[in-house]
Amino acid sequence: MTRLRCAIIGGTGYTGGELLRLLSFHPYAEVTQITSRSRMGEYAHSVHPNLRGVTGLQFIRPEDVQKTDVLFLCLPHGEAGAQIEHWAGLADRIIDLSADFRLRDLAAYKRWYGQDHPAPGWVEQFVYGLPELSREDLKSARYVSGVGCNATATNLALLPLVKAGLIDWSLPVVADVKVGSSEGGAESSPASHHPERSGAVRSYAPAGHRHTAEVEQMIGMVMGNTQSSIIHMSVTSIEMVRGVLATVHVFLKEPAQEKTLWKAFRDCYKNEPFVRIVKSSSGIFRAPEPKILAGSNWADVGFALSEDGRKATLLCAIDNLMKGAAGSAVQSLNIMMGWDERAGLEFPGLHP
Ligand SMILES: NC(=O)c1ccc[n+]([C@@H]2O[C@H](COP(=O)([O-])OP(=O)(O)OC[C@H]3O[C@@H](n4cnc5c(N)ncnc54)[C@H](OP(=O)(O)O)[C@@H]3O)[C@@H](O)[C@H]2O)c1
Repeated sequence: MTRLRCAIIGGTGYTGGELLRLLSFHPYAEVTQITSRSRMGEYAHSVHPNLRGVTGLQFIRPEDVQKTDVLFLCLPHGEAGAQIEHWAGLADRIIDLSADFRLRDLAAYKRWYGQDHPAPGWVEQFVYGLPELSREDLKSARYVSGVGCNATATNLALLPLVKAGLIDWSLPVVADVKVGSSEGGAESSPASHHPERSGAVRSYAPAGHRHTAEVEQMIGMVMGNTQSSIIHMSVTSIEMVRGVLATVHVFLKEPAQEKTLWKAFRDCYKNEPFVRIVKSSSGIFRAPEPKILAGSNWADVGFALSEDGRKATLLCAIDNLMKGAAGSAVQSLNIMMGWDERAGLEFPGLHP
């Protein structure tokens, strides 16, 4: 069987490296081109040493990319939007991991990203690449947007109760999101300098994180309206390289019993290949924990109910580079192509 030819634009970055790792073991796809402006001509494994002996690909310049089947754009914010006409001329299908095409609402884009959208005519053509939310639309998509990693953890924690209509929206919904350092990408900065970053518990965005927009969009998609400013999200950087843990506090319309929440979670996720409900009464890993998800596409979700049954704490753990980026991108590709959704994504993570 001829494999689908993929090109990774922005291949020295963390999401680009993760895509190269995944697609190197994919049964139906392969990476045939990978770009870098700074490391042009060097072997990909010189930047991604875990792939030494796995791939002999060398970086080429972005302007030398030849026509191919699928382009994965792994570029900093704004670059895909500015160059989308160019990239669309090189492939029938594009998966853009940046935030450029995630938001349907151009006013929301302007509000959260502080500028007019650079390619407004393209926004409608992109499908939001979270299979648990957009699977049907992904089946016929040509252009897919990536997902925000903090938004994904928050969305997958909230989705069962949003779908079941259990949340009291007149009261605050608060998402506390703890994140690892690889969210910041491969480029170093004063904030990522080891003596500054190591051991930090740094309130990165106590209010107003941009991924709030993707959570509000999810709620609008499920509930059929465009409520705004209903989610309060705080993002805190902690001592972790990969991983996101979202802890979302909601009030319920009616006092509930645990079995009501179990039903909501089971109804939502019983057919999902990459979501596990984690809620044990004993052991160390009673609740979702990002540590054991490193390198895997699993999203582990769970919940706890207050004694009076009025308040639920919803949890979701993911690997930001996987379910929060490259893993969801490959899962979306699998859906677009009509392949088994699990193809190339079976790695279960590590323990300890
Ligand atoms: N890190 C995460 O956890 C995560 C999760 C979800 C989504 N995302 C999104 O995914 C995208 C990539 O993130 P990342 O963490 O992989 O970033 P990164 O590590 O900083 O990598 C960016 C890549 O883009 C290349 N690049 C930069 N400017 C370019 C330009 N103008 N033209 C062509 N290539 C350019 C860089 O290589 P050269 O400079 O050598 O060309 C590098 O390979 C971002 O938009 C990010 O928001 C990231």
